[in-house]
Amino acid sequence: MLETASQALAERGWWLGTDAVDMDLVDDLRTDLDQLRDNDELERAGIGRDLDFQLAERVRGDRIHWLSRGSDAQARLLAQMESLRQTLNESLFLGLFEFEAHYAHYPPGSFYRRHLDSFRGAANRIVSAVIYLNDDWRDGDGGELVLYAESGDEVLATIAPKAGSMLLFLSEELPHEVLPARRDRFSIAGWYRLNASIGNQIDPAR
Ligand code: OGA
Ligand code: MN
Repeated sequence: MLETASQALAERGWWLGTDAVDMDLVDDLRTDLDQLRDNDELERAGIGRDLDFQLAERVRGDRIHWLSRGSDAQARLLAQMESLRQTLNESLFLGLFEFEAHYAHYPPGSFYRRHLDSFRGAANRIVSAVIYLNDDWRDGDGGELVLYAESGDEVLATIAPKAGSMLLFLSEELPHEVLPARRDRFSIAGWYRLNASIGNQIDPAR
């Protein structure tokens, strides 16, 4: 599966695996995320490094929590993403250095307008990964991720955020958006980054 993923990334810039994450792990991640919500540990997402939340609200309405190895479910997912990092580096010579990711909760009515995850030349986010945590997502629930071709409005794929799916795509090349969700929508969004350290100062991850 990992080999197929790197091949698809190289050839067309994106890959979708519908059973990429074990259901046991998906359940544990959802339980973990529900607990974080109960404890008020999600924060409004910003855009870019300067957080202008009023502007951000018109662009994206999700609430996020950055993953760490502090919880068992998060550590298991990060371990899986680490194997994938190694496979991508071995087959595509990408030199991916680290993976950062956050949980995201999109309340009903929220969306994320069309955007790119990284600007070419920023040498920052190279491969985006999105993992979905929603059981029984139905047609009509909205919240699809629409992936666009690099230039123009051609739609490459419209992806329902179904539990166990993982989407990978090239961060600098493919614009995408999250359509308004009609029910609570849960995902993990993450990025494989290059080591953008200058001198001996490590580039801050966020
Ligand atoms: C993002 C993003 C997509 C999703 O957080 O940058 O595009 O489906 N998320 O949650
Ligand atoms: Mn994005």
